[in-house]
Amino acid sequence: MTGDDRGDTSRSEPGEERPASVRTDGGAAGADDVALDPWGSSTVSDYRKLFEEFGIEEVEQILEEVPNPHYLMRRGVIFGHRDYRPVADAMREGGDAAVLSGFMPTGDPHIGHKLVFDEIIWHQRQGAEAYALIADLEAHSARGLSWEEIDEHARDYLLSLLALGFDPEEGELYRQSTNREVQDLAFELGIEANFSELQAIYGFDGETDVSHMQSVVTQMADILYPQLEEPKPTVIPVGPDQDPHVRLARDLASRMRYFGVTEAYASFEATPAELEVVAEAYEAREEYAEDPDVPRCTEAAEWLATEYGDDGGSALESAITKLENAGMEPLRPRTRFLDRRADEEAFEALIEAVEGEKRVFEGHVDAFDLERGEAEELARQLELDHGGYGFLPPSSIYHRFMTGLTGGKMSSSIPASHISLLDDPEDGYDKVKSATTGGRETAEKQRELGGRADECPVYELYAYLLAGDDDEFAKRVYDECVGGERLCGDCKEQAAQLMKEFLVDHQEKRAEVEDLLEETDIELESPRRR
Ligand code: TRP
Ligand code: SF4
Repeated sequence: MTGDDRGDTSRSEPGEERPASVRTDGGAAGADDVALDPWGSSTVSDYRKLFEEFGIEEVEQILEEVPNPHYLMRRGVIFGHRDYRPVADAMREGGDAAVLSGFMPTGDPHIGHKLVFDEIIWHQRQGAEAYALIADLEAHSARGLSWEEIDEHARDYLLSLLALGFDPEEGELYRQSTNREVQDLAFELGIEANFSELQAIYGFDGETDVSHMQSVVTQMADILYPQLEEPKPTVIPVGPDQDPHVRLARDLASRMRYFGVTEAYASFEATPAELEVVAEAYEAREEYAEDPDVPRCTEAAEWLATEYGDDGGSALESAITKLENAGMEPLRPRTRFLDRRADEEAFEALIEAVEGEKRVFEGHVDAFDLERGEAEELARQLELDHGGYGFLPPSSIYHRFMTGLTGGKMSSSIPASHISLLDDPEDGYDKVKSATTGGRETAEKQRELGGRADECPVYELYAYLLAGDDDEFAKRVYDECVGGERLCGDCKEQAAQLMKEFLVDHQEKRAEVEDLLEETDIELESPRRR
């Protein structure tokens, strides 16, 4: 979920327009392929493609709806989201919301993990229930770590999380292996997922071990765990490599639902694509219906056929067929409840509960006096009353991976490329001092052309961490750099000094929260150790 072993190698185009706000990049350009692989060493070299190909949305677009946006959001470090609006709304309006992320304890926590720690803590401070978990099953199965190693690293992650301000009394810490509820939920969710699907999503094959697959359903259960007591908007802050997990979790959440709620215009069932076609025909009823108050299915079919002819695609064709078969039935907008996983009792109870005019069919009920929102609400309530979970699809936010200090990607296996939160502060200082920069060959050129802050790992340190909440400061560094007033030597000296101070301070705080950690419920020693 973090920049662990993966890095952002994106580079901006020369002369590309810079947004007025403080950004860490100039917008990533390039034609590289994007691969989202949770266990691979893929790098994300083109964030824009994530929007286009994977349907991740830009955080910038919803920033105004977020209460006191975190500096990582303001600076575009947290750049993308899936369906974050319900979480933002809940935090703004004082409703229930939750945040959850997980950490594979494979090494020392580093400044990439700090981004996620900060995201969890910030949501907690905005009023969300906060959860942080140690993905020990995943580390054991997918990375082959022993329980001893896992325990050692887990402790370090937890100390840093607490030192940065996580409130364990309000929030919950757990490890996958000892959370019985997570295990039980994972098992239930596993019923809705099959091997072909995991194969398609993760590239699993005949050699993939079963425990690795189990760690996937465990993560699905992690993601839905905050909703076990009660459905609520939940955000999962992660790196974009975890997006396949988020998409699967959203799918499973909806597959677990007892009822689906959709719009419909006639008694037949339609796919979403067919529904669009039918909706369009309904909107155009004035154009073809003998009586526009009662447009007939057959009239709509005819109109669609003449309007689009043969080149409308298969959804058009099948929609026309369905409309033709419905004949003289009038087109009439309605809200439909589909029976997905409900037992008979729950379905009967739903039928009973629908108010106003309704029609009952084999696998669905149509309601003519219910708004979509009310219908969703009713469906969820009935599901909860009849033993279902009523999950809302979980949301996510995605942060950029940090560039390694040595250029290339930030990797746990290259110590000089990253700064561990456990690094001796002097070593931290030295690593920053020897980092690559976006500077020019000579000071003279730098004064003349300005530095390339958008390509500079040192600038990233300021924007992601060292400037903290101080946008003015981050912007000043940026402007001075690109304006040629700032030279790399001094700039690195300042950053190195700030890094040293951060590490000293952080490590002091880690020592102070030792007792706090002992008081939490999380098992610091795995019962599986031998
Ligand atoms: N798979 C994540 C990683 O590779 C760890 C993880 C496990 C996780 N469960 C999670 C992340 C739930 C977010 C939410 O680091
Ligand atoms: Fe990077 Fe600072 Fe040099 Fe600019 S002046 S290129 S921000 S090190």
